[in-house]
Amino acid sequence: MMLTFLSSSLYLALLCTPNFASASPHNKVQGPTIKWHSCNEDYSFPSDFQCTELEVPVDWKYPKGPKIRLFMNKAPAINLEERIGSLVLNPGGPGGAGSTFLANFAYNNVSGSSVYLREYFDLIGPDPRGTGLSAPIKCDPGLWNQRVSKQPRTEAAFDSMVAHWRELGLDCMKRTGASFNYSDTISAAHDLEAIRLALGEGGLNYLGFSYGTQLGSQYAEIFPSNIRSMVLDGATDHSFKKTSFPAVEVKDYEIVLDHFVEWASTNENSVLKGLNVSAMVDDVFAKAEEAPIPAPGCKQDSSSSSPCRPNVSGEEMKTITQEYILQQSTWGLLAEGVKEAHQGNATLLSKPWYTASSSTDFSQSAISCQDWMWNSSWAEWTNRQDLLRSVSPRLQGVSEVTAAQAVCLGWPSPVVNPEKPLNVTGVSTNILVVNALFDPETPYEMAVNLQTEIEGSVLLTRRGDGHTSYGLHGDTQRAIDNYLVNLTLPGVGTIYDT
Ligand SMILES: *[C@@H]1O[C@H](CO)[C@@H](O)[C@H](O)[C@H]1NC(C)=O
Ligand SMILES: *[C@@H]1O[C@H](CO)[C@@H](O)[C@H](O)[C@H]1NC(C)=O
Ligand SMILES: *[C@@H]1O[C@H](CO)[C@@H](O)[C@H](O)[C@H]1NC(C)=O
Ligand SMILES: *[C@@H]1O[C@H](CO)[C@@H](O)[C@H](O)[C@H]1NC(C)=O
Ligand SMILES: *[C@@H]1O[C@H](CO)[C@@H](O)[C@H](O)[C@H]1NC(C)=O
Ligand SMILES: *[C@@H]1O[C@H](CO)[C@@H](O)[C@H](O)[C@H]1NC(C)=O
Ligand SMILES: *[C@@H]1O[C@H](CO)[C@@H](O)[C@H](O)[C@H]1NC(C)=O
Ligand SMILES: *[C@@H]1O[C@H](CO)[C@@H](O)[C@H](O)[C@H]1NC(C)=O
Repeated sequence: MMLTFLSSSLYLALLCTPNFASASPHNKVQGPTIKWHSCNEDYSFPSDFQCTELEVPVDWKYPKGPKIRLFMNKAPAINLEERIGSLVLNPGGPGGAGSTFLANFAYNNVSGSSVYLREYFDLIGPDPRGTGLSAPIKCDPGLWNQRVSKQPRTEAAFDSMVAHWRELGLDCMKRTGASFNYSDTISAAHDLEAIRLALGEGGLNYLGFSYGTQLGSQYAEIFPSNIRSMVLDGATDHSFKKTSFPAVEVKDYEIVLDHFVEWASTNENSVLKGLNVSAMVDDVFAKAEEAPIPAPGCKQDSSSSSPCRPNVSGEEMKTITQEYILQQSTWGLLAEGVKEAHQGNATLLSKPWYTASSSTDFSQSAISCQDWMWNSSWAEWTNRQDLLRSVSPRLQGVSEVTAAQAVCLGWPSPVVNPEKPLNVTGVSTNILVVNALFDPETPYEMAVNLQTEIEGSVLLTRRGDGHTSYGLHGDTQRAIDNYLVNLTLPGVGTIYDT
């Protein structure tokens, strides 16, 4: 999902020394083995896009074993004379498909790419394994539509929640097949290396958002000498554990919800301007807790472009509120949603109703449940929820991470890439980590920590709210462009306002 600088020449002198040159000489450049072709029209990508598929082993320990095909697309550089190479993107999730992300990113000059990246790079959007068109995780949407609380208040409710996700996970395993147990980020990092080799241009250029920072940093730990440039925007730090991760997340969501309340009661663009928004939000949450608020505008069939649930529970209301506060660009819509829900129509705040056999949410579960050791006893779980509720009085411990943890308690695949501090050394470039001070999804603590785990990396800070920073087209984007194109780093401790 998804960061003006005072440059310190001393720092640059000390840390810019890792030689970029070593990125290619060690790894002889073989030339591309990928054959790009025009994209299937069904995908509705922009007309200049090209597509391809790359075979990789299901299990990288057995390179000759069964294979899956990775799908990716490309927005070719628009200035061939100045072209530097390929820039591989990951939109986050986990579960997000690079190809659909790129279709928007390449041409969206409001929240997508700058003209610089389009000029100098072929932008590459691979769907990571288990997502999009790359052997996606398949599940029964009906099971996903069952309403099972992820905030159990009794041991019996906890046990039946675990049983629900077990049944659901086993169903997804059966539908997905052999690749199901190989959805982890280490496998995806090996896939990324296969993509780099197939592009045949030498060092990897990579721009990862949100979970894409975990994929990037784990790639860097395994293949440190194969990188020309890497930007990690909205840092996920894989050393945060089952209690520290949700604790920093809900604390920041609570802070940003307060920022929204202040904005919505005072800003010209808010339909709630002049009202007591704090009281309205509390009231809507309380009413939805009492009984789900109807969402009469929602349809539950695939004929609707975005099917959604017929009513919204308190837990769902808190979850969707967090999705809206993630980016300031959706605060206006959230204000409308709160206004309507306060009048008894929660349509704008309703969660998706699943109708298809694949979804980013299904993929997200398969990936995160193999990447984090989130198993907990009832005693541990309920103690943790008490802690989370104490640091988030409005949101009551409801967050994306606690929801993911609930799913993973029953998920049947093995944890093969458990959380641990990374140790990224011998890197052939200085990696750029970027984070906003109030990014509720990837709290600033994570970025500070991730920077210490990657030798020679620099943290660039944006003073503001919102998840990731590149798409805001401000000073942070300019600095990222300058880094990707010229390999010029911002100075240590640089903070921009935009
Ligand atoms: C976006 O690009 C289009 C076409 O290149 C241009 O007309 C428009 O002014 C740009 N908008 C912004 C916000 O830069
Ligand atoms: C996945 O791993 C689990 C746990 O090790 C095992 O029970 C299951 O059979 C495996 N599934 C597949 C499809 O290989
Ligand atoms: C908003 O409403 C709450 C609860 O009714 C009240 O405590 C608070 O003083 C009100 N705030 C303003 C600015 O009127
Ligand atoms: C509820 O709100 C939705 C979204 O704003 C709107 O389309 C719909 O007409 C409303 N329904 C009723 C019954 O007010
Ligand atoms: C609320 O939605 C659920 C489906 O999520 C449905 O089963 C239930 O009947 C609905 N309740 C009301 C009162 O409409
Ligand atoms: C979680 O799983 C690990 C590895 O299987 C095990 O060592 C640990 O005891 C489990 N923790 C809980 C609370 O179940
Ligand atoms: C990190 O890796 C380097 C090089 O392999 C090693 O010298 C160092 O001891 C490691 N640090 C930690 C904390 O494991
Ligand atoms: C690259 O550096 C040159 C020379 O300093 C500068 O003019 C140009 O704007 C930089 N490119 C980007 C994308 O920042």
